[in-house]
Amino acid sequence: ELPLDVTIKEVGPRDGLQNESDQIPTENKIEWINQLSKTGLPYIEITSFVHPKWIPQLKDAVEVSKQIERNPDVTYAALVPNMKGLERAIEADVDEVSIFMSASETHNKKNINKSIDETYPVLQEVVEAARKEGKSVRGYVSTVFGCPYEGAVDENQVISVCQNLFDMGIDELSLGDTIGVANPLQVDAFLKKLERYFMKDHIALHFHDTRGMALANTVAALQLGYHIFDGSAGGLGGCPYAKGATGNVSTDDLNYMLQEMNIKTGIDQSELLKATSYIQDYVENQLPSKQMNIFKKQ
Ligand code: HMG
Ligand code: MG
Repeated sequence: ELPLDVTIKEVGPRDGLQNESDQIPTENKIEWINQLSKTGLPYIEITSFVHPKWIPQLKDAVEVSKQIERNPDVTYAALVPNMKGLERAIEADVDEVSIFMSASETHNKKNINKSIDETYPVLQEVVEAARKEGKSVRGYVSTVFGCPYEGAVDENQVISVCQNLFDMGIDELSLGDTIGVANPLQVDAFLKKLERYFMKDHIALHFHDTRGMALANTVAALQLGYHIFDGSAGGLGGCPYAKGATGNVSTDDLNYMLQEMNIKTGIDQSELLKATSYIQDYVENQLPSKQMNIFKKQ
């Protein structure tokens, strides 16, 4: 049974921009987020409070968070890896923080410099401190459907990481297909297994579109009643260090598909396309969004 409503969470200003090698001026990031805030999107992940040496593009995280115009109908979130990041996020007064880790050891180590077991206490402390500050907390699990270093990831290992994050007290969990290797049958089988453990209302899907499977995977999840999806405007993203890697599913294509399927998202497609066109002018590569490229030719 397909859901009647879907929540789309925009992660482009974080997941998209984090991979842009040329520094984008802070004022243009702010203007882009302000435009996204007026499209009807209920949720925008605006930046991340990771180490600026690891992600120099987002070193202006505090400035961006403080200077955007906040729409009271939008939840503004940011990625936080540890207590140092949380302190900066609190200073910047974001509404929600997102903690993150991987289901595979090698990716976790390369991404946050810790083993999986070393990561849990760090994140536990962040969740508790964030809660005391009145912030809601989202959790990401990366490499859910496959790891660039280890290949297939054991489903029970993924479920155990998810369980540990929920046990910490997170509000929602986003399942990352980090390198876009999932296929619809795999998504169907895994989510059917997952629904024995967790409520669909607390699970989001975070599909990268590296191999063009993201919308197909979205349909597989929709058919099981999952109704929270992450997207990046224009499909912005893609790692400069991993050849061929691309961004999240394009929010414009996702929103188009859902609306054509009579599923409500509350997002104004033409306003979204305008916001996407705005950021296109400040990034190096042509954005992959099909909808934006049709829009630009009109
Ligand atoms: P580390 O080097 O192990 O950190 O990095 P540390 O705790 O040992 O600290 C070393 C120094 O960094 C200290 O400074 C800290 O204060 C400082 P010193 O005392 O030497 O002067 N430091 C910080 N500074 C600013 N902000 C901070 C911070 N933390 C420590 N938050 C760390 C560990 C986690 C910080 C590092 O590995 C890191 O920043 N990693 C981030 C990697 C990243 O951003 N990856 C991309 C996001 S995840 C993703 O894209 C996947 C997702 O989209 C889902 C999916 O698609 O699967 C979410
Ligand atoms: Mg991602």
